[in-house]
Amino acid sequence: MPNNAALAVGLGLGAVLLTLPSGDFHLEDWGFAKRLVLCVAAGVTVLVLVRLHRLLFQPLELLRTPEDVGYIAEDGRTKARAANEARRRRKVGELPPVYPNGWYRVLDSHMLGRGEVRSAYILGQQLVVFRGHDGKAHVLDAYCPHLGANLAVGGRVLGNCIECPFHGWQYRGSDGKCEKIPYSDKVPEFAQVRRWPSCEVNQQVLIWFHCDGLEPQWSVPEQPEVANGQWVYRGRTEHFINCHIQEIPENGADIAHLGHLHTPGLPSGVDLRYTNSKTWEFVRHDWKVEWDPEPEPNSHCSQMRVNHSLTLFGCRLPLLDLRVVARQVGPGVVFLRFDHSFLGRGLMMHCVTPVEPLLQCVTHTMFYQRNIPAVVPKFILKGESIQFERDVMIWNNKMYISKPLLVKEDAAVRRHRRWFSQFYSQNSPQLEYRRDTLDF
Ligand code: FES
Ligand SMILES: [Fe+2]
Repeated sequence: MPNNAALAVGLGLGAVLLTLPSGDFHLEDWGFAKRLVLCVAAGVTVLVLVRLHRLLFQPLELLRTPEDVGYIAEDGRTKARAANEARRRRKVGELPPVYPNGWYRVLDSHMLGRGEVRSAYILGQQLVVFRGHDGKAHVLDAYCPHLGANLAVGGRVLGNCIECPFHGWQYRGSDGKCEKIPYSDKVPEFAQVRRWPSCEVNQQVLIWFHCDGLEPQWSVPEQPEVANGQWVYRGRTEHFINCHIQEIPENGADIAHLGHLHTPGLPSGVDLRYTNSKTWEFVRHDWKVEWDPEPEPNSHCSQMRVNHSLTLFGCRLPLLDLRVVARQVGPGVVFLRFDHSFLGRGLMMHCVTPVEPLLQCVTHTMFYQRNIPAVVPKFILKGESIQFERDVMIWNNKMYISKPLLVKEDAAVRRHRRWFSQFYSQNSPQLEYRRDTLDF
């Protein structure tokens, strides 16, 4: 319930209470001011209860727009203008190909009911996502080859096909073939839209991209605790980041940045101009991290093992030590498993999906032990989001350096680049500049 609605309900309730007779209590004995106070008190109580209920039991949903985070809006400029300027003026560097081969999250399963149609813009492509009446999700190119209507804008699901809103041609979700043209006896053999290989696992719909059109070369592993309902949904965050996709996973192998960017306590916030302020200096995070690729047959996976501890006034709080194993599967999906002695266990799915060459949509989706109060995983998710937004401020403004100046302690960055290069092939799309501007 939104805050305003809660307040209105509370005020209404207060007003009703005021009209009820109660024993020796006579409302008419009360002055207008007292009645008003009672009414407001009832309203505020309901508001507090609703907020408390939300905090303790509802999932945390933190959805940021592309301008929200990671830009400095100074001299009276709006955030949108600051973001725009930073994007135009930024030197991008010599980039690797922009769309690595792999699986990418499209949406969460609950966003797509049976017979529903959604539009998606991913990898610079307009796609239509729909769920057939048999419950299976399908992803096709959005533009109808007949006269170019967008199937996601007004198209409807008929059985396991999508019907174009313009002239009613029907395309099968399973292979994209046109099955029926309502005003013609014959369907041309080649009438077809591109079908994207997709899967639905861990309550998400994902698509497979390969620049040469190859079928999936690995699968996204199902997480048993999510599949069997032991771990339940506790919220998600969504961010849009202006950088090359590789910068984001590279963070996991960039061990040195943890000891600098992520050491200030969470109360120091996300604006890097202030995170080292003296006020919150007594709260520090300590990180011990290792990063390694996995051997065959899982060479498309890598692991980051993290031991996190919190210190207050220089004293470590061992009870809050947290172990995390982040397993990256291909370029776009990471499973972070949390293990804590009394705060329980859970899983955060971190998904990076390229929207455009230099725009990434990143979601963190939290599943946690059902018997642990929701406030615990929500706090972890919020903490992760604060730390992540510090990275966002770096990514949004940095250039990609193809030949970085590294010291021996940075060796994992180089190893990570070697590992990540397996997701590019000869025909992987490169960034193209527009004719007369540096926009892409
Ligand atoms: S444009 Fe789709 S049926 Fe004509
Ligand atoms: Fe980071």
